[in-house]
Amino acid sequence: MISNGKSKTVIELHVNGDSHEVMVRSGDTLLDILREQLGLSGAKRSCENGDCGACTVLADGKPIHSCLSLAIESCDQSLMTIEGLMGSPIQQAFVDNWAIQCGFCTPGFILNCHALATEHPNASDEVIEEWMCSNLCRCTGYQEIKEAVQSVVRASGNA
Ligand code: FES
Ligand code: FES
Repeated sequence: MISNGKSKTVIELHVNGDSHEVMVRSGDTLLDILREQLGLSGAKRSCENGDCGACTVLADGKPIHSCLSLAIESCDQSLMTIEGLMGSPIQQAFVDNWAIQCGFCTPGFILNCHALATEHPNASDEVIEEWMCSNLCRCTGYQEIKEAVQSVVRASGNA
């Protein structure tokens, strides 16, 4: 970390397999920096309160709300945004199960479900439902998303 002496600090973020030097203030959120400096607009700014999950990214494989994470605390993590998840089984499962929703909530749902399928390859329906609680959609049901996750879990041969 290098401070420029004007309350901004240069840090290195590791996103989608690439390293980027960015200049941040101590209060900048990870969401701010991803969208405004790195041009990664897949993570969405919505409630900015930790309630909706639209800003979900993965940090060392775990879903986090980037609106509540400080960029300055994210230097040592391996970050993944929806732009880094091209061609994943869970994305195809969303397509195959008609689980595609609006551009605001879908990226967060997909990243969250990718982490679920990775971390819990034997996930029961109850685990899937509980895991999905961190992402909200205000206009539809969650059945198709649940079916997309179930299809990935079943394809792994573990369920
Ligand atoms: S914008 Fe981060 S949880 Fe809603
Ligand atoms: S909030 Fe995205 S489809 Fe409902």
